[in-house]
This record gives sequence, structure tokens and C-alpha cells, in this order.
Amino acid sequence: MRFALDRREATQGTVDAIAVGLPERAEKEDAFPRALAKEDLAFGKLLSAAWERREIRGKRKEVTVFHRPDGKGRLLVVGLGPRTLVDIETLRNAAAEVVRALKGRGARTLGFKLASFSNERIPAESAVRALVDGVELGGYEFLRYKSTHEGKIEEATIFLGEEAAREETPLRKALEQEETLLDTVLWTRDIANVPADTATPEWLAEHARGLAKEFGLKVTVFDEKKLAEMQCGGILGVGSGSGHPPRLIVLEYGGGARSGKTVAVVGKGITFDSGGISIKSAPGMAAMKYDKSGACAVLGIIRAAASLKVPPRVIGVMACAENLPGPNAYRPGDMLRTHTGKTIEVLNTDAEGRVVLSDALGYVVEKYHPDQVIDLATLTGACVVALGPDIAGLMSNDDALSQSLLDASHQTGEAIWRMPVTDTHREMVKSEIGDVRNSTEQREAGALTAAAFLENFVGNTAWAHLDIAGPAYNEGPLTKYVPSYFNRGATAFGVRLVTRYLMTTPR
Ligand code: BES
Ligand code: ZN
Ligand code: ZN
Repeated sequence: MRFALDRREATQGTVDAIAVGLPERAEKEDAFPRALAKEDLAFGKLLSAAWERREIRGKRKEVTVFHRPDGKGRLLVVGLGPRTLVDIETLRNAAAEVVRALKGRGARTLGFKLASFSNERIPAESAVRALVDGVELGGYEFLRYKSTHEGKIEEATIFLGEEAAREETPLRKALEQEETLLDTVLWTRDIANVPADTATPEWLAEHARGLAKEFGLKVTVFDEKKLAEMQCGGILGVGSGSGHPPRLIVLEYGGGARSGKTVAVVGKGITFDSGGISIKSAPGMAAMKYDKSGACAVLGIIRAAASLKVPPRVIGVMACAENLPGPNAYRPGDMLRTHTGKTIEVLNTDAEGRVVLSDALGYVVEKYHPDQVIDLATLTGACVVALGPDIAGLMSNDDALSQSLLDASHQTGEAIWRMPVTDTHREMVKSEIGDVRNSTEQREAGALTAAAFLENFVGNTAWAHLDIAGPAYNEGPLTKYVPSYFNRGATAFGVRLVTRYLMTTPR
């Protein structure tokens, strides 16, 4: 998708379709909204007529299409819901709804009337970013395996109109930044959506190498031999049942600023999670191709960090393995010795994410002494039970880091909710014969015991764990409960969130 800014009014341009946002008004505000006067005139008073017969009310998800009487263009009025509730997230959803309404309907160019989307609470700059988000995210489709596809919007223009034209320079900068970011988010979705027949740990390593080459970053790929030398018994144990051997992938972005803050971003990269010997049941198992979403997010975060030149140095670590049963598979009862020297008693081979992360976290903390570690992992079904399909769990040993991530989450709309880790959970993951056990054999507080397990491998480092099992992907009926800009399949959740954090973090 190409984006453009235009100083004129939307009605003066020559796009195939113009989108205007309409907030819902109180019942007694009966008069036709003055904000739509220019469009009404250009469209032969069709809008005011529709208003009179109560066809358009501005309700959320209401999209109404008008055709210009001379045949030259369309206008979409998209409902924004109650005026006092319109926020940035509303705009993302509205832009996505517009793009979806136009899909396969012969429009190539689309224009937004900016003034109808920004208000006293939403500065024009935030509105521009939100429109870019909604258009890109809502319009996204995974096309790798489609031999045919419907035409879609190729160019979106944001019309500033008289008032916003004065702010053209900052708006242009916001637009360009958001375009760069969204290019990476869609790139990440394209990787995360590829199934495990192709997307093996080595295939992910290839992507990391390609990225490093493109942006001049340092990349290190540890294969199974090297991992054995490094005593990474966790990731090796999980990967041992698969013919596609595990990889620990490290990417380094040097930082845009001279000062030295280092943030490590660590991702769970299980290319397929069958559960292993503790095998999962068949229904829904196909979705476990998305169990690499954390590692894919890390790839995306590094790409975004490098292309936007965020201030801190960022170390990306992807812990990649395939969890299958097989003649060499790890089994319940096994004892694994991890990179830090701590041992894991395996009680359930399906709790493999925390096991691969034990080596990744232990390694990055030991080698780089980062100021902060953020991990992203589709770690537990329990987190989905607790928070539903669109909110990630946040577990952290650091209040300031948590608050910064919550602030970034407000900006990007990627919802997170902090949950506690206490001594109760720490006790629950202690092993009788080793240091920690990977499963408690009870379902209570499953997302929190998983976090308590991970905590053993970060030492005193400020650390935040994002359990993205819910929002990392969408399949089946869930698609209708999540934001309109969530697509089917991998969402690349976390890329915008963590990148925004990196862009704004004090050094
Ligand atoms: N990859 C799964 C978690 C998951 C579940 C992700 C649903 C996305 C959607 C993880 O490896 C897993 O199987 N966790 C187990 C842990 C249990 C065995 C302690 C779970 O959540 O049931
Ligand atoms: Zn599992
Ligand atoms: Zn898993």
C-alpha cells in the first residue's frame, strides 16, 4: 500500500472512494451534521436525504456507501459510535472497516477526510497513525498459498483540509514513520502465517540472516552442535523429537543513541507444538503452527528498531524448536540441564515454551547484561482462559518497566493486563529432585506459574513477560470478537507495542 498526504479537501481529489467518519449523536441532535456539508453538496444532497430517513446514524461498524450522481466516485460514511467514546482505537477499527467494505469492489484508490476522524481528544497526528494502522492491518491478507486474489486498495490518501494543512510537516513525519512500522508488521504476519512444513527453525534462522544483511546487523545462529557445547539442554531437549533441529538465533541492533541502554527481546519460537509425548488432542492442533509467534515478533521488533533507528541497543533472541513426539523425543520424567546450570524436571512435554526460554533468557542475561529483558511467548492456554482472545498477560518483576509497557499499549491498542507472581507460584514450580519443574500437574494459576518458572532464569534483571497466547492469532469464531483490524491467522501482536516502547523509552 502506498500512502499520500494531500492538503486539499477530500471532495477536491480524484480518488475512487472517500471515507468520512461520523460519530453517533444524541437522539435530540436531529439536524444534519454540518461537518458533512461539503460532501453532501458534492454528492447531490444524497447524504442529507439518507440522514432524514435515518439511514445513517454513526453507529459503530455502520458503513454506508453513496455513489456520486455523475458516476465519478463513491463516498463511505463509517460510523464511529458515541461521540464521547471515540478514541484512537475507534479510528483503527473504522479504517479497517472501510477497507474491508471496499474489498473486491473495484476501488484502487481511497481517501480519508482527516477532519472527520480527529477531535479535541485525538490530535491529528494520532489520527493519521491510526488510519495507517487500520488500513494496513485491516486490509492484510495472507496470499502465499492463494493462486488468485481479489483486487484491493493500492493507494490511500489522507486529505488534510484547510485546518490540518498547517501541520503538514509533523503529519508527514508521523505518516512516514507509521508506514515504515506497518510494513514490518505485515512482513512479520507473512512469516508467522507460514506453516511448519516450511517454517522450520532453520528457515527462521535464514530470515534472521536475511534481515541482518539488509540492515547491517550482527546475527549469530547457534545450531544443535553449538547448543550442546553451550549446555543448552532445555532447547535441545524440546527439539530432540523433530527431524528439524533447534536453533537459538541472536540479532543485535546497535542503537541510535550514544548512551548505552540495552534492551533484550526474547521470543518463543516453537514452529509446531504437538505437545510432544504429552500429545495434544486433535481439535485445534493446526493452530499450533502459530506457536512461533513470539520469535516472529522478535524478528519484527528488530526490523522495526533498525528501520526506525530507535535509541537503545536491542538484542533479539529467538528460541526455535519443533515439539514433536519421536524416537529421540524428550519425555515426562526427564531431567534437563540448562545453560545457567539450573535443572528442569520435565513433567509435561507440552509445557515446552518455558523450557526453550530458560536457555534463551539465561544466555542473553549472562552474555549481554541487558538493562531490561522483555519476552514474548504463546505460553499458556491458561492465559487465554484468564484474559480472552485479545489481551496479553503481563508478568514482571519491575514496576517502571511494566508501566512503560502499559503506556505503549495505550498508544498502540495492543491490550495487555498485568498479573501477579507471588511466592505461592514460586513454590508451585519447585522440583523435588531438581531445581524447577516445568508443570505443576494442577491447572490453578497456569499463566502465573509459567511466569514464576521463567523468573528463575533472569536473575536480578528488570524483566517483563508477555504471554501472547490469546492475541497472537485468530482462528474460527474468535475472529468476530476481536478488533476489526485483527485479520485471520497471525496478528504480529507485540511488534507495534514493543517498538513503540523502544521508540519512547528514556535512555
Ligand atoms: N503453546 C501452548 C500454549 C497455547 C495454548 C498457545 C493455546 C496458544 C493457544 C503451550 O506450549 C502449552 O501447551 N501449554 C500448556 C501448559 C501446561 C501443559 C502446563 C497449556 O497451556 O495447557
Ligand atoms: Zn505446549
Ligand atoms: Zn507451546
